Amino acid sequence: MSTQTARPAKALTPPDIIARKGGDPLVCLTAYTTPVAKLVDGHCDLILVGDSVGMVVHGLDNTLGVTMEMMILHGQAVRRGLRHALMVVDLPFGAYEAGPDQAFANAVRLVKETGCDAIKIEGGVHMAETIRFLTERSIPVVAHIGLTPQSIRRFGGYKVQGRGDAADHVLADAVAVSEAGAFAVVVESVPESLGTRITEAIAVPTIGIGASATCDGQILVVDDMLGMFTDFTPKFVKRYGELAGHAQEAIARYAEEVRTRTFPGPDHVYGEGPAKAGKT
Ligand code: KIV
Repeated sequence: MSTQTARPAKALTPPDIIARKGGDPLVCLTAYTTPVAKLVDGHCDLILVGDSVGMVVHGLDNTLGVTMEMMILHGQAVRRGLRHALMVVDLPFGAYEAGPDQAFANAVRLVKETGCDAIKIEGGVHMAETIRFLTERSIPVVAHIGLTPQSIRRFGGYKVQGRGDAADHVLADAVAVSEAGAFAVVVESVPESLGTRITEAIAVPTIGIGASATCDGQILVVDDMLGMFTDFTPKFVKRYGELAGHAQEAIARYAEEVRTRTFPGPDHVYGEGPAKAGKT
């Protein structure tokens, strides 16, 4: 099946993103649905259909259960809402780690079935060969290093990566994935000083999440920054809205009005007059 919505001619491309290295910061957010894609498109350079969709939309405990089918469905929805931003879709856990051939087959599915502009994979030095394989075959890749959520079992949880002696390993990951051809590198949950070192060390833009303001761009999970959750919020999330609170208020008012029969009121019911299509 091919993508259902054509990519707009004026949308940003991977070379446009690379050209922003050291320039105006790249504004990036996740999106998983068409309405949210429409909301964020005009403000953002890059939209990620992240595998965080599993936790944010489907209520999973982590991203390990996310499937290719979930990524394709949400990728197609987001494609329909974007006109400007570059669209990146995550390869989910289990869809690329076996080797370059598996990664290529699944990346091609994402490109063909969602119309995405690029894919993202997690991993550093050990993923460099796969990144080279994909980019040499015209699949643009965003790499993701530092705290890579698909590796939480190995890390023992959501822990800051690259403190102390471990900094050089994360730096080596950044260098390896950028030299392998990644056109941008997401750097998640590392000490601020390491975020800066990585940004200075590699030739392509870094996109920070819990990294540093010196990164070439920033990304957040859209539901996190909108305040859609009332429970745990990671330290790196700034809540720019409190949508969960507003939604709860609205739902409580609706429930009250239904119970007291004040909704529907006169404006929300139909009269006996002649039918006008869609109106009465
Ligand atoms: O899946 C995701 O949303 C991500 C971002 C947090 C970078 O990978």
